Amino acid sequence: MSVAGSVRAVTTLRLTEMKQRGEKIAMLTSYDYSTAKIVDKAGVDVILVGDSAANVMAGYETTLPITLDMMIYHARSVVRGVNRALVVVDLPFGTYQGNSKVALDSAIRIMKETEADAVKIEGGEEILESVQRIISAGIPVMGHLGLTPQSIHKFGTYNVRAKETAEAEKLVHDAHLLEEAGCFAVVLEKIPATLAARVTNELSIPTIGIGAGGATDGQVLVVHDMLGITNDFSPRFLRRYADLHGVMSEAISHYVDDVKAEDFPNEKEQY
Ligand code: KIV
Repeated sequence: MSVAGSVRAVTTLRLTEMKQRGEKIAMLTSYDYSTAKIVDKAGVDVILVGDSAANVMAGYETTLPITLDMMIYHARSVVRGVNRALVVVDLPFGTYQGNSKVALDSAIRIMKETEADAVKIEGGEEILESVQRIISAGIPVMGHLGLTPQSIHKFGTYNVRAKETAEAEKLVHDAHLLEEAGCFAVVLEKIPATLAARVTNELSIPTIGIGAGGATDGQVLVVHDMLGITNDFSPRFLRRYADLHGVMSEAISHYVDDVKAEDFPNEKEQY
C-alpha cells in the first residue's frame, strides 16, 4: 500500500503479466527513504529491501548479523518513499529457517510494521514449509535460489553456484517446488546463464536474475554497487552506471577545503 492508502501500481499479478508479454522486470535494492524515492520515480518495477543492507549500510562482512528489527527500520523508510514499485523485504537469517511458525510470525511483523507488499526468502525444499505457511496467511513470497548469501558458511565462497549437474538439477526441482507452493517470483543469483534460461522457460512465474545472464524475466542489482558508491566489489556481472564514490569524495574534499579556507559560508550563505 502507498502512503495514501491505495495499492501501488506494480502488483505481483502485474509482474506475471509482464512475463507473459515478454516485458523485462527492473528491480533494484533500496534501504532508505531518499534513495527509494529516486529509484521509484526512475521507473524501477520492484524495490528490494535486501539484507545486503548488512553489507552496504551497516558494514558487516556477511548478511548474517542483520536483525528483523533492523530490516523493519529500513523497510519502513523505503515504503514512505515509494508510490509505484512493488516493495519486497528480505526475511533475515534466523527468522524463518527452523520453524514455520517463527517464519510466519516474522513475515507478519514485516507486513504489519512496514506496509511492504511481499517478503523474500532464501532456499528451496529445506524451507518449503515456511514458504507454504506464509503464503497461506495471504503474504506474497519471492523465492531466492542459487547463491544464497545467508548460507555463506555452508558453501564457503561467493563463487558461481550450480555448475555441476546434481546441484543444477536440485535448483530446477526447488524452483518448481517454490512455484507450486505459490511464490510469485524467484531470484536466481550467480548461476550459469543456460541454467537460468532453462528455469525461466520451465516456470510460469517470473525469474529475476543477478549474475544469471540475460534470459531471466528481470534483473536485480544492489543500488550501491550499480551507482558505484561501493568501489571494492567488482564481480563480472556488475555494470556500474555511475561513479558516485568519486563524485561524493570530490564534493566532500571540496567542502573540507572551503571550510578550512574560510570560503564557506560566504556572505550570501548566511543570515
Ligand atoms: O539482499 C539483496 O540485496 C539480495 C539481492 C542481491 C538479490 O538478495
